[in-house]
Amino acid sequence: MAELRDLFGRRIHYLRVAVTDRCNFRCRYCMPQDNNWLPDHSMLSDQELVLLIHMFASLGVDKVRFTGGEPLMRAGVADLLAQIKAVDGINEVNITTNGKLLPEYALSLKTAGVDRVNVSLDTLNRKLFKALTGQDALEQVLNGIKQVLEAGFSTVKINMVVMKGVNSGELADFARLTLEYPFQVRFIEYMPFNFGENYLMTAADMLEQLAATGITGLIAVPGQLTTARIYRLPDAKGTIGFISPVSQHFCSCCNRVRITPDGFLKPCLLTNLEYPLRDWLRAGLSQQELTRLIVEAVRAKPRSSQLGSQPLKGRPMFRIGG
Ligand code: GTP
Ligand code: 5AD
Ligand code: SF4
Repeated sequence: MAELRDLFGRRIHYLRVAVTDRCNFRCRYCMPQDNNWLPDHSMLSDQELVLLIHMFASLGVDKVRFTGGEPLMRAGVADLLAQIKAVDGINEVNITTNGKLLPEYALSLKTAGVDRVNVSLDTLNRKLFKALTGQDALEQVLNGIKQVLEAGFSTVKINMVVMKGVNSGELADFARLTLEYPFQVRFIEYMPFNFGENYLMTAADMLEQLAATGITGLIAVPGQLTTARIYRLPDAKGTIGFISPVSQHFCSCCNRVRITPDGFLKPCLLTNLEYPLRDWLRAGLSQQELTRLIVEAVRAKPRSSQLGSQPLKGRPMFRIGG
C-alpha cells in the first residue's frame, strides 16, 4: 500500500483539516476582534474535500480531524463528517471545537460516526471566560461537554492553553475534574503565535505548581508519545496530559499535515511553507498528477524546533486550526 513519508523517515497518516476560518469566539491568543472572513468560493467545497480525503486515504492517511476557526460553524458539517468517515481507509474522524454549539450538535456528531470530540476550554471562571473569548458562554460549553458524554462518547479531551498569570491559577481545578469525569484534560504550553504576547508556562513549571497546590502522585500512563505525555491521578476516572510544543517539541514523532480553509497543504504548523492544493485541484490536474504533487510536498515536510519566545509570523492560528 502507498504511504506518505518524509525525508526524516516520519510516516504521515493524520490529516488535520481546518474546515472554516469563521468563529463565534474571539480568543485573545488566536483571533483579532475584526476579521475579513475568507469568501466562500475561496474555501474548499464539500465535494473537493471528500475528493482530497479519498486521495490522502489512498496514500495511507487513516485519521482525520476537523478544526477551524470553529468547525461547527461550517454549514452541513455533520453530513460532511459522515461522508469522510465512510471513505475507505479512514478509521478515525475527530473534531476540535470551542464547544459553544455542542449542546445542539453532540448527538448528530455521534450519529455521523465521529470518534472523538476535543474541546478547547481555558478557564472554569465565568468572568475570565468572557474576557478570554469575548462570549459569556461558559455554561453553554460545560453543558455541551456533558451532552457529548450523554450522546455516548466515552471521553472528551479538554484542551487548556495555559497562560501564565492569566489562567495558570486554575491548573489544580482542571486536574481535579479528572477525579469525577472520564476526561483527558490536556495542559498546553502557549505558543507565541500572534500578538507578540508571551504567556509561556512550561510543563515542568505546571507540574511544580500542581504539586504545590496538592495535586501529587501523578502516575505516568505508558504509551507511544504523540503530542501529549499522559498521567493519571490515583483512582481518577480520567487522565491528565501535557502538550509541550515549546519546552520539549515533538517534531521527531510528528505524524500529521494540515489543510487550511482556503485549501493549502501545510506540512508543518510552525513554518510558513504551504502548497496550493485547491488551485491544483481547480486547474484540473489528473488524480495521478495531484497524488504525485502531494507525495512530493509531504516528502519535503520540515522539522521545526525553532519555537522560541519570538512571535511566529505568517498565517494566523484561526486559518491553521492548531
Ligand atoms: P488527539 O488525536 O485527540 O490526540 O488530538 P490532537 O492532540 O492531535 O489535536 P488537538 O486539536 O486537540 O490539538 C492539541 C494541541 O496540540 C493544540 O494546541 C495544537 O496546537 C497542538 N498541536 C497539535 N499538533 C501540533 C504540531 O504538529 N506541532 C505543534 N507544535 N503543536 C501541535
Ligand atoms: N498556543 C497553544 N495552543 C493554541 N491553540 C490555539 N492557539 C494556540 C497557541 N498560541 C489551541 C486551541 C485549541 C487547539 C486546536 O489549538 O486552544 O485547543
Ligand atoms: Fe475560535 Fe478556536 Fe481561535 Fe478561540 S482558539 S478564536 S475558539 S478558532
